[in-house]
Amino acid sequence: MIIAIDGPEASGKGTVAKLIAKKYNLRHLDSGLLYRLTGVPLIGQKFNNNAEFEAQAIKAAGQINAAQLDSPPEIARTMQGGVMASKVAVIPQVRDILTAIQKNIAKQKPGAVIDGRDIGTVVFPNAELKFWVTASIESRASRRFAEYQAKGRSDSLAAVSQAIAERDHRDSSRAASPMVRAQDAHLIETSKLSIEGVVEALSVFIDAKLADLKGSSQN
Ligand code: DC
Repeated sequence: MIIAIDGPEASGKGTVAKLIAKKYNLRHLDSGLLYRLTGVPLIGQKFNNNAEFEAQAIKAAGQINAAQLDSPPEIARTMQGGVMASKVAVIPQVRDILTAIQKNIAKQKPGAVIDGRDIGTVVFPNAELKFWVTASIESRASRRFAEYQAKGRSDSLAAVSQAIAERDHRDSSRAASPMVRAQDAHLIETSKLSIEGVVEALSVFIDAKLADLKGSSQN
């Protein structure tokens, strides 16, 4: 069973993916973390040109291993980590390497809930279930802003909102596997929902699919 959960930054997809995996005893794979881990060694480095940047990013992707997902360095989860992830994510060779890792992890039993940008369109186009989890830019910016404040960071709401808009633009306008809703993904708008509400909304579809699969295995 593969459940693909795609959507933009701060839509709540990561939190909901983790909770859904726990509820249905599936593995959770945060594909964004693979892009973040690829970007980490490049943070703070100077590159003479784009070709140099791309070569370093491809090399970093080649050195990723699944075990790193369990204990990522703190910088991977920061705004800086997210921006670098989004920059390495435009490189097709990086995407190929990280897509292969995702396929490898998810094919292990009992299946997985994977959150990202291109899971339902490119990585697992045949996933049993696909969701597109999104929210207004205002809600997403206030969520991130509250998170950063709790961590003692002083970024203004306007700066957080602008950073999200820039990342949305880069992720959705790139040529290689752009962030886009799969035609058969269920749309979940989370602006006015609590996290429990989002889990509930996805569970309705998952329970129906499980009943369906059970029914067809008995026939
Ligand atoms: O989900 P996240 O914020 O951790 O993702 C960080 C960046 O990684 C995101 O801005 C774009 C890239 N990414 C991607 O291109 N494809 C994915 N499946 C997941 C993330």
